[in-house]
Amino acid sequence: MSKGFHRRNGALHCDGVALARVARDFGTPAWVYSQTVLEQRWRLFEKATADLDPTICYALKANSNQAVIATFAALGAGADIVSAGELARALAAGVPAKKIVFAGVGKSEAEMAMALEAGILQFNVESAPELARLSAVAQAMNTTASVAIRVNPDVDAKTHRKITTGKSENKFGVELAQARELAIAARRLKGVRIEALSTHIGSQITDVTPYRAAFRRVADLAKALRADGVALKRLDFGGGLGVVYRDETPPDLKAYAAAVRAAMKGTGFGLVLEPGRWLVADAGLLLARVEYVKQGTAKRYAILDAAMNDLIRPTLYEAWMPIEPVAKPRAGRKLPYDIVGPVCESGDFFAHDRQMPKLAEGDLVAVRQAGAYGSVMSSTYNARPLAPELLVKGTKIAEIRGRQSVEALIALDQLAPWQAGKSRRGK
Ligand code: LLP
Repeated sequence: MSKGFHRRNGALHCDGVALARVARDFGTPAWVYSQTVLEQRWRLFEKATADLDPTICYALKANSNQAVIATFAALGAGADIVSAGELARALAAGVPAKKIVFAGVGKSEAEMAMALEAGILQFNVESAPELARLSAVAQAMNTTASVAIRVNPDVDAKTHRKITTGKSENKFGVELAQARELAIAARRLKGVRIEALSTHIGSQITDVTPYRAAFRRVADLAKALRADGVALKRLDFGGGLGVVYRDETPPDLKAYAAAVRAAMKGTGFGLVLEPGRWLVADAGLLLARVEYVKQGTAKRYAILDAAMNDLIRPTLYEAWMPIEPVAKPRAGRKLPYDIVGPVCESGDFFAHDRQMPKLAEGDLVAVRQAGAYGSVMSSTYNARPLAPELLVKGTKIAEIRGRQSVEALIALDQLAPWQAGKSRRGK
């Protein structure tokens, strides 16, 4: 049996499971993940960075289904989290608190307290006021927070502007010069101990040069701080490694690890890495059905039963995602399609003018590379319930999140007390 997503007799399969069968049994739209691919990606990442002995903190935001987190936790993963919700998810899936790093520019007091209570590895602090607040919260709890100052190295990651995070005009991190002052001043602050520097310059990075520049700047600052007498233990180089959606040429793991190695060399610091997309993008797809094919004078539309509320990446980032028919592609000339959803917005699209084998009503299609930043970014816009998530391993398939029912969606709301009795519901 071939592993992962592949074609057998022309038809798309995940391990030993035909996607046509998945659609029949679970309906569409649906997210399908391959546990085999998740595990493969983890092992590849681990192997390529083994000599650096990193704590690999999976960036939960890419895909935070409990079954996905648990897959990585079973292989020894830590977690990179950005909210109390993600903290709870990581802990519930079995990630040890001592392998959790907490990033984000707006941590609330309650979130800080929860993470201190859990005993996480480090808070990646992104501003002076945040450090002051963390100091106060930790003191009130009679404890000390381990802190990494998140440095904004002012390096252009050369990725989409909405996912670049390491330029001085981005809200993230503390500017290089200020970071040094902050780390030194922090020695007088009770309740916090500066143990690390962290950085994360962006996502879907396809060029290794910005990585090299950022890592070097952070490592140089760490060395300077050590000379200042700040006893740093670790460097955290974030995530961001790109994957191939179309024709990108992201650095391979070897080149990425070499960039990390170059900056770490001779420093004696420990290492944290926070990969997200690279571990999960490949491992998932969005399965959808063609509801209609509509022929206009200027355009030919394939209207799917999935929409921007399910997968927002194309419209939010102008992201090009691979789309394939699930059945053996029809022979003959490819035709350009606008592949769209049923949501009432012109921004509801998966692809424009995409050359596809001929499509027909009822066909199944797969949006590939959708394991990262797919389901996690879904909404219920247009009162469209959240699509189910399914995990395949070998010939087995399991629902790891059921399809939300319309009733469950409506039940999230309630009438105000003064509306009681006036509801027409049930009449
Ligand atoms: N660490 C930090 C502090 C981050 O902010 C992120 C992602 C990561 C790690 C993981 O980055 P990755 O390895 O996944 O690139 N929704 C966007 C991507 C947003 C990324 C946000 N931060 C998309 O669909 O492209």
